[in-house]
This record gives sequence, C-alpha cells and structure tokens, in this order.
Amino acid sequence: MDDAVIREAVSGDIDRIMELEHGSIIHPWAREEFERLISDQNKLCLVALSGNKIVCYAGAETVLDECNIGNIVTDMAYRGKGFASILMNELLMLLRKRGIVKVFLEVESGNVPAIALYGKAGFTEYGKRRGYYCDGKDAVLMSLEL
Ligand SMILES: CC(C)(COP(=O)(O)OP(=O)(O)OC[C@H]1O[C@@H](n2cnc3c(N)ncnc32)[C@H](O)[C@@H]1OP(=O)(O)O)[C@@H](O)C(=O)NCCC(=O)NCCS
Repeated sequence: MDDAVIREAVSGDIDRIMELEHGSIIHPWAREEFERLISDQNKLCLVALSGNKIVCYAGAETVLDECNIGNIVTDMAYRGKGFASILMNELLMLLRKRGIVKVFLEVESGNVPAIALYGKAGFTEYGKRRGYYCDGKDAVLMSLEL
C-alpha cells in the first residue's frame, strides 16, 4: 500500500470520522470530543487517506511530556492493509518531535487485532484494569518509551 497520505484532521473531516467511529466502536465518542481533538493544541487527531478518502484515524492527548492514545480505527473495508500501522508510526514520530517521552493506552483484553497492532509498534503491557469497560471486560494497559 504505497498511496497512503497521513495528515492532521481538520473540522471538515469530522463527518467521515463519525461515520467510521459509529461503524466500528461499541461506545462511540461524541462529535464534540473529535472537535476538541482537532482544536485543542494538547490534543492530536491524524487521518490516513487512500486516494482522497479517509480510511483510518487516531486521536491522542498530551499532558506535559506524556501522551495517551485514545483511539485508532480503520474502515472495515480497508483493514489488514497496513493503514493503522503507518498512521501509528507517523503519530509516534510527531509525538517524539513534540517532546513526548512516554505514550500510554488501554485496550479491551479481547481485542486481538489492536493488541497486535500496538505490540508491533513497540508497546508493552504493564498491567490490567479488571472490569474497566461497561460490559465488564478487562482493559490491558500498555506503554511505550519514545
Ligand atoms: C485495530 C485496527 C485499528 C487495526 O487496523 P488495520 O489498518 O487493519 O491494521 P494494519 O493493517 O495496519 O495491521 C497492523 C498490525 O496489526 C495487527 N493486526 C491487524 N489486524 C489483525 C487481525 N485481524 N488479527 C491479528 N492481528 C491483526 C498485525 O500485527 C498487523 O501487522 P502485520 O500485518 O505486519 O501482521 C482495526 O482492526 C480496527 O479499526 N478495529 C476496530 C477499532 C478498534 O478496536 N480500535 C482499537 C481500540 S480504539
């Protein structure tokens, strides 16, 4: 997949991001959360495009020299083609440039594709939060030093 373009999201992308969010996430974020991701300078939202179509996005929030990655989603029709991996690499590069030294995230313990994606990017597990999600599932806590 050579044609992926990665860029920061702009407000005109939110309709498409919401479409992907509602198609992929059991408890989707509200539109306002994406608006904040785009407008707040301590937050970051990146999108990956195939042609001129957004097929993947990720959101992150920084606090001092640390960052939490809140979500990453690929359009179902474009999964397994490397978009999330490329977007994650770009996100980590940008965070490094902003002086971030440690990145955290949590992921539902049964989410095999996401855990594998994060592991491929270098994240390691440092703990679990039992019953963290509304449905009682555990969260796996992962981190990465940049
Ligand atoms: C997790 C997700 C973002 C991966 O997106 P993707 O674009 O398909 O991922 P990529 O094609 O870049 O794959 C990157 C790595 O992830 C892992 N991976 C992706 N899909 C996988 C699957 N079905 N099973 C196991 N590992 C998988 C692999 O390690 C893969 O690397 P490899 O191809 O070299 O083996 C996608 O499955 C998704 O949108 N899921 C629903 C939303 C979600 O749960 N997001 C995470 C929590 S917010």
